[in-house]
Amino acid sequence: MEAALEVRGAFPELPIHPLVADLSAEPGLAGWLGGTGLRDGASTLATCFGMLPNLDPETFPAYLFRLLAAGDRLLVSANLSPGGYAADRRTILAQYDNPEARAWYGGALRELGLDPDAVSVEIGAQPLPGAGKDGSAWRIVVDAVAGRRVELALFGERIAIAPGHRLRVFHSNRFTPEAAERLWTGVGFHIERSWIDPSGEEGIYLCEKSAR
Ligand SMILES: C[S@@+](CC[C@H](N)C(=O)[O-])C[C@H]1O[C@@H](n2cnc3c(N)ncnc32)[C@H](O)[C@@H]1O
Repeated sequence: MEAALEVRGAFPELPIHPLVADLSAEPGLAGWLGGTGLRDGASTLATCFGMLPNLDPETFPAYLFRLLAAGDRLLVSANLSPGGYAADRRTILAQYDNPEARAWYGGALRELGLDPDAVSVEIGAQPLPGAGKDGSAWRIVVDAVAGRRVELALFGERIAIAPGHRLRVFHSNRFTPEAAERLWTGVGFHIERSWIDPSGEEGIYLCEKSAR
């Protein structure tokens, strides 16, 4: 909604059709996309930046493929791990375990009404199950572990958390460049172009859903 309001303010002549949806629930959006009129006689370029780190890599690419029509394109980013879990774990984890990152997690906990002193924040990493078991797909995880009984305040509801209970504060998925490509080609996309950052830690892929 923030993005929609910004665009509407800066480019009032541009027709926009904002929609807020939980994509992890795989909503059927074909009706909404058709209703915008944007698809009439044109192909779609869907952009999806910074989302793969948080969504399920086993299901999200296939969902995007189903959502698009033949001839449509997808411009999507992935966080990469050039050498995989064992080689990169230590250096990449350092980006998530430092005073600035810890202050960020603490801010999220405070917004939930949690006293950051009542929890310890544990930062770790694990290979993803399935195709990622070889370390080509892995996840950074940040948990808050309650040191005593604490309460969350969420939209007027209070949720009690027992001592020792873990609350997932953050996670982020990483892929080797080969595994990132397989995410898209494995569900039927053709990769038209890709751009890899010189650090090797971020890739952008232009994928096409070819007409069959
Ligand atoms: C790291 S931000 C990237 C934001 C923006 N695309 C950019 O590149 O600056 C991740 C975005 O994914 C969205 N997101 C995470 N989980 C989602 C879900 N289940 N359904 C829809 N959007 C989701 C968040 O709302 C957030 O805007």
